[in-house]
Amino acid sequence: MEAKRLFDGIYRINSRLATENSSRGRKVYGEELVELDGKEYRLWNPYRSKLAAAILNGLKAVKFEADSVVLYLGAATGTTASHVGDIAREGAVFCVEFSERNMRELIPVCEERQNMLPLLCDANDVEKYSGAVPECSIIYQDVSARNQAEILKKNAQFLKRGGYAYFVIKSQSIDVSKRPEQVFRKELAELHGMFELVEKVDLEPFDSLHLFVVLRKK
Ligand SMILES: C[S@@+](CC[C@H](N)C(=O)[O-])C[C@H]1O[C@@H](n2cnc3c(N)ncnc32)[C@H](O)[C@@H]1O
Repeated sequence: MEAKRLFDGIYRINSRLATENSSRGRKVYGEELVELDGKEYRLWNPYRSKLAAAILNGLKAVKFEADSVVLYLGAATGTTASHVGDIAREGAVFCVEFSERNMRELIPVCEERQNMLPLLCDANDVEKYSGAVPECSIIYQDVSARNQAEILKKNAQFLKRGGYAYFVIKSQSIDVSKRPEQVFRKELAELHGMFELVEKVDLEPFDSLHLFVVLRKK
């Protein structure tokens, strides 16, 4: 068994995706740990993480690097954010989450990982965390809100020019009366002036409710 490097900090072990555990011996969501050549890897579950699903489905624009500074909107309990933290091992992940319940589980994850910072805030209220978040190279947004494009536009002030936004769109949170394709098109049209579209990835069979989009700030 070997860990084959796919992208910076992202590996394939047999047919499974993995990141190197930055908090040895610790699991975040019950994921499997694998020891290989003196390193510990966390297997990355595509049914629990849309970023893992997108990578397995052939995402090309994987721009996360060791020194990435990431603004993560909708960090929940840290499932995907912790893998992003493993990748950005010399950078930082600013984790915005407005649910106190999720935050209670996220805080210990951040305490074990020096590069993850929890922010109990609504991603609409950017002024509440603008003093805490520096210029970022990446925004990762996965919020189940009605105004997903608007939230990304507000937070784009933190993203450097040419920086990448990973935008997970959940049509059902926006408008259940419209066809998902219609909702996706409208959300992307709203972002057109600020971002160029880099890539769209379908998440089936891992997830059928979201569209995974990569955008680049103009
Ligand atoms: C689908 S979950 C995110 C899952 C997470 N990205 C992962 O892969 O591990 C969506 C999260 O967004 C949070 N959320 C929704 N609207 C938000 C807002 N306006 N500000 C901050 N968090 C929000 C929810 O509380 C929830 O935890």
